[in-house]
Amino acid sequence: MMTREDDRGEEWEAEEIDYVFKIVVIGDSAVGKTQLLGRFTKDEFFLDSKSTIGVEFQTRTLVLNRKRIKAQIWDTAGQERYRAITSAYYRGALGAMLVYDITKRQTFDHVVRWIDELRANADNSIVVMLIGNKSDLAKSRVVSTEDAMEFAEEQGLFFSEASALSGDNVETAFLRLLEEIY
Ligand code: GTP
Repeated sequence: MMTREDDRGEEWEAEEIDYVFKIVVIGDSAVGKTQLLGRFTKDEFFLDSKSTIGVEFQTRTLVLNRKRIKAQIWDTAGQERYRAITSAYYRGALGAMLVYDITKRQTFDHVVRWIDELRANADNSIVVMLIGNKSDLAKSRVVSTEDAMEFAEEQGLFFSEASALSGDNVETAFLRLLEEIY
């Protein structure tokens, strides 16, 4: 298990890293992909987040089971017109965070499309975690936890609800994904 004390930001030299794990974050526009990433890598959150254009990645190095791991997390636009070349984005990815917004039904309905895209472009062994983001907006919830959990089980995905805003479950979800990859 990893603790915050093991977390050394970007201090390590390349030769000290045991593994680099590439993770992609996917899902419809405005579900909170960029903010989840910012919360995990920098413990930051911005309410006036702009749409991602193209591809960006952020990293966080941490100790997991006594190995030094660099999580290289890729973020791209949910909006089709801003997306970069799909196959390059998925190449070498060991894990995926597939994000929807618990207050927007359509973003959950579209999860199947993202799964199709994953199946078509990513390695078969990719570990996928479904994330119901914005759990802080419980009053506006339209996707129930039970429905999402059942869907995830059917599809063989790990599942968690989270909030990039409050930070709830963000760390746990990313660490779970990294542990499953490991
Ligand atoms: P694209 O880049 O267009 O694909 O969007 P994205 O999925 O990266 O969404 P982004 O992280 O830019 O967040 C979209 C909006 O939702 C922003 O206004 C965020 O501040 C807000 N947001 C993200 N996460 C949360 C959350 O957990 N709770 C709440 N209340 N708002 C959030």
